[in-house]
Amino acid sequence: MKKVGIIGCGAIGTLIATAVEKRIVPCDELVLYDCNIEKAKALKKSLNFPATLVESLEEMIKRKPAIIVEAASQQAAKDYLPRILAAKVEVIVMSVGALLDMDVESSKVHIPSGAIGGLDAIFSASLAGIEEVVLTSRKNPKALELVTREEKLVYEGVAEDAARRFPREMNVAAILALTVKPAKVRVMIIADPKVTRNTHEIKVRWKHGDMLLKFSNDPHPQNRKTSALAAWSAIGLLKRILENQS
Ligand SMILES: NC(=O)c1ccc[n+]([C@@H]2O[C@H](COP(=O)([O-])OP(=O)(O)OC[C@H]3O[C@@H](n4cnc5c(N)ncnc54)[C@H](O)[C@@H]3O)[C@@H](O)[C@H]2O)c1
Repeated sequence: MKKVGIIGCGAIGTLIATAVEKRIVPCDELVLYDCNIEKAKALKKSLNFPATLVESLEEMIKRKPAIIVEAASQQAAKDYLPRILAAKVEVIVMSVGALLDMDVESSKVHIPSGAIGGLDAIFSASLAGIEEVVLTSRKNPKALELVTREEKLVYEGVAEDAARRFPREMNVAAILALTVKPAKVRVMIIADPKVTRNTHEIKVRWKHGDMLLKFSNDPHPQNRKTSALAAWSAIGLLKRILENQS
């Protein structure tokens, strides 16, 4: 009996649960937790799949999930991760920015590629020597909770700082920072009323070449700050981990 725990039944949690319901991921039962119980109840009700609601992380752990997906918030990741690891449960962390402030070294912690990709190549290059990594993220002002009729540079700085200032919007910066550390990632965030998709352009200059990667992602209909690809990256990772366990 393979169980998957989901903490946070919002945009990402819902898409993951739906993928489980469609049998894209090998799982027999979902264990759902949200600090807003109504969100968890609504998700359970929408599913044609066995799902148990719990009212705390401890209750979730007692149900012995094969893996837990954190899809809640940076604060939730900071609060729950030590307890999940103490219980020796595998965990996928979506709120990646939280890991920048935590000292976590565990093979049980899995980080999905989120709204970007090519991290294998970037990581490999970082081992040889990174000269420069620049992330330019372009979003519709609504996705940044801004109002502007013209293109505007909203932020320029390093990835760690971007992830802290934009905890909901800049998980991509945190993912890149963790991939190339101790090298630094320069980040520019642009609010652009002309775009409807969240776009991330990554330029890498390294010892033996250059890379240019571009991702143009539809925002999740339930949460414009979240790209659909981010949820699908968690689904892909979950599928790989569960298939390897069986
Ligand atoms: N890794 C990535 O590429 C990536 C991409 C997008 C979003 N994210 C992150 O994933 C997380 C979820 O994103 P989302 O779009 O689904 O958000 P959402 O706001 O749609 O849903 C989050 C849900 O978590 C619940 N929640 C919040 N704090 C909680 C807590 N302490 N305990 C239990 N439940 C809690 C909320 O009630 C809500 O239902 C966010 O932190 C977001 O920044 C990561």
